Amino acid sequence: MELKSLIDKTNIPQHIAIIMDGNGRWAKQQGEDRIFGHHEGVNSVREIVEACGEIGVKFLTLYAFSTENWNRPKDEVNALMELLVATISLETPNLHKQGVKLHTIGDIESLPESCQKELQESISITKDNTRVNLILALSYSSKWEIMNAVKKIAIQVESGTIKVKDVNNTLMDKMLTTSKFPDPELMIRTSGEHRISNFLLWQLAYAEFYFTDTLWPDFRKDDFFKAILAYQKRERRFGLTGEQIQN
Ligand code: FPP
Repeated sequence: MELKSLIDKTNIPQHIAIIMDGNGRWAKQQGEDRIFGHHEGVNSVREIVEACGEIGVKFLTLYAFSTENWNRPKDEVNALMELLVATISLETPNLHKQGVKLHTIGDIESLPESCQKELQESISITKDNTRVNLILALSYSSKWEIMNAVKKIAIQVESGTIKVKDVNNTLMDKMLTTSKFPDPELMIRTSGEHRISNFLLWQLAYAEFYFTDTLWPDFRKDDFFKAILAYQKRERRFGLTGEQIQN
């Protein structure tokens, strides 16, 4: 039976965040260069975005490049940036046709100008779409984001715009780069690693985590549907007891 048909359409996570891991290992297994794995990873990105549209996931955040990834060998960083520019340019018409709206989070100004330009163009072309919000985390790290939010709040307190007693979760939410999006209900990490790697530390406070050994270039629609089916079996408690949730 088709996995997609087993999904309960009344319990679809509205926001899914993914750590796309394992491109390098996948390439090595094929006897290829690491960048070959990143190229193949783009095909998985395309399928998962499509799958979100098919089942009604409204927000998809992909960890495409972390702050720490800048420390990779120069050749790999350059190749990843070129791949990003080429992919955005090539895929934008298709994304637009599918009703996908592109967003970014992260230190976008640290990206090469060509990259920033391509992203801006795609964001502008897709700005009125509403079917799926695709959020690319680029040059992103959660500690960087939280630190910036704390600094913004400190400046407002110092200038007297707000008082210390006004600092609460809602204000923190507003100061984060994700302020326009709901928190993810599900976080998926591929490749068998069980780490959060500086990704959405604040926003994932109550998310369900799903780990799979599948490497990102092999992670396709059915793997994604499997993750959603696993999510639908979880009992989300938010700190309450099982009995409280049942009642
Ligand atoms: C992690 O695998 C993957 C990345 C650091 C880059 C992810 C990029 C893509 C999937 C392609 C471009 C994406 C978009 C959205 C256009 P890894 O290199 O750490 O793999 P390894 O752990 O096996 O070495």
